[in-house]
Amino acid sequence: MRGTFVVFEGGDGVGKSTQAGLLAAWLAARGREVVRTFEPGDGEVNARIRAILLSPATAGLGPKAEALLFAADRAQHVHELIRPALDRGAVVVCDRYVDSTLAYQGAGRVLDAASVAQINAWATGGLVPDLTVLLDLDPVAALASARRAGEHDRIEAAGTEFHARVRQGFLGLAAAAPERYLVLPAREPVAALHEAIRSRVATLLDERADAPGRLIP
Ligand code: TYD
Repeated sequence: MRGTFVVFEGGDGVGKSTQAGLLAAWLAARGREVVRTFEPGDGEVNARIRAILLSPATAGLGPKAEALLFAADRAQHVHELIRPALDRGAVVVCDRYVDSTLAYQGAGRVLDAASVAQINAWATGGLVPDLTVLLDLDPVAALASARRAGEHDRIEAAGTEFHARVRQGFLGLAAAAPERYLVLPAREPVAALHEAIRSRVATLLDERADAPGRLIP
C-alpha cells in the first residue's frame, strides 16, 4: 500500500509552514501517521546542501548548479525519507517540492523548463504529489512579510521581477493540471485556509481509501 503525498508550494512568506503544520496536526489527531518535512535541507546530507544553496556567501553559484543542487537535495530527500514513509502508508506533508525548482529556477532564473523537469523526474524517480496546495500571493506583499520575520536568504534577495516570474510559474503549473492542485489566495485568514485545505485533503484520503485494489487501513 502506498501513502499519500501532499505538498505546499508558493512564494516566500506566504504562510506555507503554518498551513502545513496545521494540516499535519489535524491528520495526526485523526490517527494517521504523518511525516512533516520540507525542502531544501531536511536530513544530514540535505542540511549541508541547503547551506550552500542559501548562504549569501555563495553569491557566485550559477543557475544550472543551483538547479542541480536543489535536485540533489530532492533526490536524497525522496530516497531517505519520502519514499520509505509512503511505502509504510504514511501521509507525507512537505513544504516545497519539484514545482519550486520549476518556478524559481525554471521561470525565475529562466532555465529551459523541459530540462529542469527532466532532471527532477530522474532525481525523484517520477514521484508526483497526490495534491499540491498552492498559496498564491503578490510577491511584493509576501517578501515584505518574510523580511519582517527576519528571513532574507540568497534567493529572497533576487528582486521583484524574479519573484513575479516565480509566481506566474507556479500558477502556470497549477493551471496545467488543475485536478492535482488546490490554489488558494494566501491573504485569506489562517483558519479559513486551513478549513479549505482540510476539506480537500479529507476528500482525497476518502477517494484513495475507496480506490479499487487498495488496502483500507
Ligand atoms: P524555504 O526553506 O522554503 O524558505 P524559508 O525557510 O526562508 O521560508 O526555501 C528557501 C529558498 O529556496 C526560498 O527562497 C525558495 C528557494 N527554493 C528554490 O529556489 N528552489 C527550490 O527547488 C526550492 C525547494 C526552494
